[in-house]
Amino acid sequence: MDVAEAFASLMSPDGRVDPYPAYERLRAHGPIVQTGPGVYAVTGHAEADELLRDARVRVLDEHLRDGVLPNWRESPAVSSIARSMLRTNPPDHSRLRRLAAGAFTPRRINAMREVIEAQTDELIDAMTTAGRGGAPVDFMAEFAYPLPVGVICELLGVPADDRTLFRRWTADLTGILEPEITAAELAVADAGAAELRAYFTELVATRRRRPTDDLTTALVQAHEAGDRLSGDELLANLVILLVAGFETTTNLLGNGLAVLLAHPRAADVLRQHPQHAPAYVDELLRFDSPVQLTTRLNAESVRLGGVEVPAGSWILLLLGAANRDPRRYPRPEQFDPWRAQLNPLSFGAGPHYCLGAALARLEAQVAFPALLRRLPALALGGQLRRRIRLTLRGYDHLPVTVGEPL
Ligand code: HEM
Repeated sequence: MDVAEAFASLMSPDGRVDPYPAYERLRAHGPIVQTGPGVYAVTGHAEADELLRDARVRVLDEHLRDGVLPNWRESPAVSSIARSMLRTNPPDHSRLRRLAAGAFTPRRINAMREVIEAQTDELIDAMTTAGRGGAPVDFMAEFAYPLPVGVICELLGVPADDRTLFRRWTADLTGILEPEITAAELAVADAGAAELRAYFTELVATRRRRPTDDLTTALVQAHEAGDRLSGDELLANLVILLVAGFETTTNLLGNGLAVLLAHPRAADVLRQHPQHAPAYVDELLRFDSPVQLTTRLNAESVRLGGVEVPAGSWILLLLGAANRDPRRYPRPEQFDPWRAQLNPLSFGAGPHYCLGAALARLEAQVAFPALLRRLPALALGGQLRRRIRLTLRGYDHLPVTVGEPL
């Protein structure tokens, strides 16, 4: 199969549901391949890691975006992502990231452990009640969604009653992160973004009147302290923290649980030895990455992996493929929590390395051992359904039966 066919197979609905065969077809042509005019795809771990750290390789920021999509400001979805740190280059990026980074110190994250443990226990109680008598429970709706949303809302200071609003809005908005999107999908993403912006505009107004010690107040105060954060940037960063912070973690919990249920012996070891949770979580992140790709443009030409990528190329960094690069991970298609030196690229690398990585890891490190310990008979309870999305990989529906709780 040639490169164009391999790439088309990745972009097809089947490829979005299970991209791994298409990654291998692309990899057969080398770690970096040209998939179209000015478009390159990277499947190699070393190559993706190097490009993510290369200062000549940039994210599509406001100025670069003007060149490719002049009317992007008319789209609430594009503009809310475009003005956030995720799509900003230095020096703006360093300023925006520093303002939010204060909330993600190891001390702050560790202080979240108790909140995570308490929410995990409550959600397991609720799953147990819902699953009495063998009724299947949707793990996505009952656990994988509410845990991260509860945690990020706690950080941002979003009132508990409002948390259910976010699921649809965010799921709609994240369509914008797909490598290709139709006009209809963009309209849906725009509607979600408009709702989120309206919500946060109101929350910002409330925090301005009545400051508390949450992250929203901290960002509002940075905005008011002068020109460090514009009003648009403030909203975009609140939206990105919510969007980046929970759908990804929801998918780590869903993808991870499906893998553990498919590997009962490995799950049993984790149940008996919860101290191995960090290694398990990192292998789950590698094995089925919740974020499968990110994109970059190179300001100057770059030579890597035997390929010259000319300046101005559009680079698709296939993180999920890099995480299965056999040059980096022997027998990559096997789930093996005993691998040494994992360092999966699931949280990216370089200046945009995920700000919430420690928090996401902590949530999963608490959740999986607790689920396995308290629900020893947890099992699949029906047909799994994947979302037809490549960038944010996860399940729509993951039915489980909980059995008799301990
Ligand atoms: C950036 C993955 C959880 C906040 C990123 C990037 C990846 C990623 C791959 C880099 C994107 C790029 O380079 O283009 C994940 C995964 C998560 C997760 C797989 C869960 C398993 C979180 C959480 C938060 C968060 C819990 C916040 C509470 C962010 C932010 C950025 C980011 C703010 C942008 C950083 C920057 O541009 O400097 N994430 N993330 N993420 N993530 Fe996460």
